[in-house]
Formats: sequence, structure tokens, C-alpha cells
Amino acid sequence: MPKKTKYHSVSEKKKPKKEPVAIAAEKDKAKKIYHLLRGMHDILPKDEKYWQAFYNNAQQLAIYFQFNKIETPLLEEANLFIRSVGRGTDIVDKEMYIFEDRDGAKVALRPEFTASIVRSYITHGMWNSPQPVKLFSWGPLFRHNRPQAGRYREFFQANFEVLGAKDPAIDAELMLTAYNIYAAVGLPVEIRLNNIGSAAERERYVAELTNYYRAKRSYLCDDCRTRLNKNPLRLLDCKEEQCRPVRDEAPQIVDWLDEASRNYFMKTLEFLDELEIPYILSSYLVRGMDYYTGTVFEIYPAFESTPVKEGGNKDEPAAIETAQSALGGGGRYDVLVEEMGGRPTPAAGFALGIERSIAALKQYKEKNPINVATPAYDVYFAQLGEDGKRRALKLINDLKNSGLKIAFNFFKNSLKAQLEAANSMKVPLVLILGQKEVQDQTVIIRDMESGVQETVGQKKMESVLKKKLNKQ
Ligand code: HAM
Repeated sequence: MPKKTKYHSVSEKKKPKKEPVAIAAEKDKAKKIYHLLRGMHDILPKDEKYWQAFYNNAQQLAIYFQFNKIETPLLEEANLFIRSVGRGTDIVDKEMYIFEDRDGAKVALRPEFTASIVRSYITHGMWNSPQPVKLFSWGPLFRHNRPQAGRYREFFQANFEVLGAKDPAIDAELMLTAYNIYAAVGLPVEIRLNNIGSAAERERYVAELTNYYRAKRSYLCDDCRTRLNKNPLRLLDCKEEQCRPVRDEAPQIVDWLDEASRNYFMKTLEFLDELEIPYILSSYLVRGMDYYTGTVFEIYPAFESTPVKEGGNKDEPAAIETAQSALGGGGRYDVLVEEMGGRPTPAAGFALGIERSIAALKQYKEKNPINVATPAYDVYFAQLGEDGKRRALKLINDLKNSGLKIAFNFFKNSLKAQLEAANSMKVPLVLILGQKEVQDQTVIIRDMESGVQETVGQKKMESVLKKKLNKQ
């Protein structure tokens, strides 16, 4: 007789007894508190008014200057950015979030808008539309750089591009649009600009620049020694103290521009003079992407600020060091569309960094009386009792298309607490709905300034409110 094997059901099997310590550790694990990834940040309700200020003004100016909104995906083929932004740039060499997706495709989270917009212009044959094509975008970008004051791994930009035309007036219009956005939110800024010429002019200049820097190699920081081989133009952009004296003596690109480029530059400046936009000529301004040609510019805060050292509070939009951090930047990129496979299409654009702009605005606001408006409510809806609450929710919903901004809080039940809330929100009118009003199908409208109350039928509520608020 074969020996009988005794099978146990899983539950019968003796499970190893867990030590109490192991159980506690497991429970602790279940309670793990997750933190933000380095360089990421939450946008909190307390900052909403700043975000709204920039978004609303950027959007309104986009409409005024006839830029149409375009949204492109967060994820693109990695090579799109490698080819357009260029190898040897910090973005491509060090900062792109690049990975293989599940199909093995090499993709990247967009580090900037311009390349995606050029791709979209080509994808959709936008050269068939009337030129120039003017596009506005708003959204998050990703760069895996070393987090420090004013530098995040996810950040937002307002981005403007004009494709299909080249004229000093367009460059000036772009700078004007950027300038206007800051003027509208109340932040003084200045524009620093340069002209980095055509590819041929730059090639001659870069040869001269490289010779000059080679002779000074021993005075340079490590990054500049690498730049000397990889991307010599970026030598001019170095922020290290030790490299400054070398840069100050370096040859300047304007001396390598031909007559046409110089004339173009002069005309651009004439437009800026006419528009009374404050600008500074900055012969070392070269920008961080390879695609630029001709006009390049950056926007800086134009007020005294307290420098914040690297490693500033990483959870807050950090204060920024005025001299070091551009709020925005852009320029012409006249050959990029063609290089990316499109027809020859001159183009230009700029992007504003929203976190940095908000940080600068907050800094400026500390010492200067400017008012960044909190979205204002027209009416506070106060309710009393269960019936009042139920009916109030229905009436609030009925008002959703009225254009009125209604505040309410169903966790505050006493009238006193609700009136206090309305008062602190500076709401001009309060609606009060209690048991009696529910039965009578009425509502009380209280004028917060005079304290006068009147009862109106619920059906008339919307029109009476609008009349009182002058929002007919
Ligand atoms: P960009 O200079 O790389 O230009 O970025 C524009 C702005 O985005 C910067 O001035 C800065 O305010 C913000 N920014 C950049 N990196 C970060 C970061 N890591 N954290 C926070 N803010 C940041 C461009 O992106 C070009 N595509 C602009 C352009 C449009 N050129 C032509 N058209």
C-alpha cells in the first residue's frame, strides 16, 4: 500500500506566527506619510489669486493681440527635444525626464513648449493658414534640475509663439506682450536683449570666442571647461564669479553681425523706444537652447530684492535673486521649423515662468502697496436648519448659470457664524434661507453695508440680486 500523503488545506497549514514587533512595523508602514518628490510643489488655494492674476492677464492679452490657444501633449518623442533644443544644452544633457514607455518608445516629458508647437505646426500643416500663426499656451513643463530657489522640476509657463513671419515689429510685439502681462499684475520688469545673428555670423563669432576662452582655460570653472568643448556660446551665460572677469573681456557678438542683422536689431530697438519699454542691451545674453537666431531677450524684475541663496525653502515658491533669475525669455528661431522637417518658416516667441514671476510679485508686494485681487464673491448664501440647507443647495445650483459668484459653507450652521464669514469675505449681499422662507418660497436679501433686509420670492431672487449688484 502506497503511503497516504496527508494534504492540508491552506488554512489548516500552520502559519508562522508574527512577532508583535513585526505587526507593529507593518502597521507603521501602512501609515507611511508620503512627501512631495524633490523639486515638485503643490499649488495651494492661498496662492490662487496670484495664479489667477497671471493666467487671466496672459489670456486676456493673448486674445487682444490675437494669439489662439494651443494645447500640446505633456509627452512627446524624446528626439523632438533632443534635436530642437540641442545636444550640449543643460536641458538635453542633464534635465530631461526621458524614459521608455511600455512599447519601448523613447519619450520625454516636455521641458519646454516651443519644440512641441513647432511639431504641431508641421503636423497640422499650419503654413496653409494665413500667416503668421500666433499661438498661446499655458501649462506644466518638466526639467530634472537641481532644486533651488526659483527652480522646480515641474513648473508652469505662459508661452507665446508667432510662426510664419519675420519683422522687428513682431519681436517688439512679443516683448510688449510680455511687458504688458507684468504691468497688468503690477510687477515692474525690464527687458534685457541681444542679437545673436544668423548661423553663419555665429559660427565666425564662436570660432573667435573659443580661441579667446582657450587662452584663459585655467581661470574657468569646471562647467565652463566642459562648455568650451561642447557649447562655447554658453560660456557667456556662466554665473560663476570666477568666470566673470574672463567674460567681461570676451569678444562681443554685435561686432560679428553683418549689416542686415545690425539694421534689424536697430529697428527692433526703435520699436521698443517708441513703446517706452525699459530695456538693457546685454551683449552676453545667449539663451539656453540651440534654436535661437537673431533677437533674444529675457525679462528680469526691476526692483531691489533680497537675494536668496541656493536651497531656499523648497515647498514655497521661493524668493529669487534678482540679478540671476530671469522671469521669462525668448527670441527668434528662424530655421527651426525647417530643421524639424517643415517648410522654411521664420518664427519667434517667449515664455514666462509662472512660479518665478509669482515669487517676484510676492517679494515686490511686501514693500509696495499693490493689490492682487482675490476672486470676489457677489453673494453669501446663509442657510438655517435642515430644510433651509436642502433648499439652499437647490437654489445655489439654480443660480449656477446666472454669472453671480455665490459663496456658502454648509458646515457653519448658526446665522452669526455665516454672517461673520460673509463679512470677512467682504461680500456685499447675503441671502438668508430658514424654515419660514422655505415654506413661503421666499428668501431674505441682506445688504451687508446698510444692514437693511428685504424678503423676495425665490423666483425673483436672481433678478433682484442682479439689479442690486448692477449686473443686469
Ligand atoms: P526658458 O528660458 O528655458 O525658455 O524658460 C522660460 C522661463 O521659464 C524662465 O525664464 C523661467 O522663469 C522659467 N523656468 C525655466 N526653468 C525653470 C525651472 N526649472 N523652474 C522654474 N521656472 C523655470 C523657454 O522655455 C523657451 N521655450 C521660451 C521660448 C518660447 N522661446 C521662444 N519661444
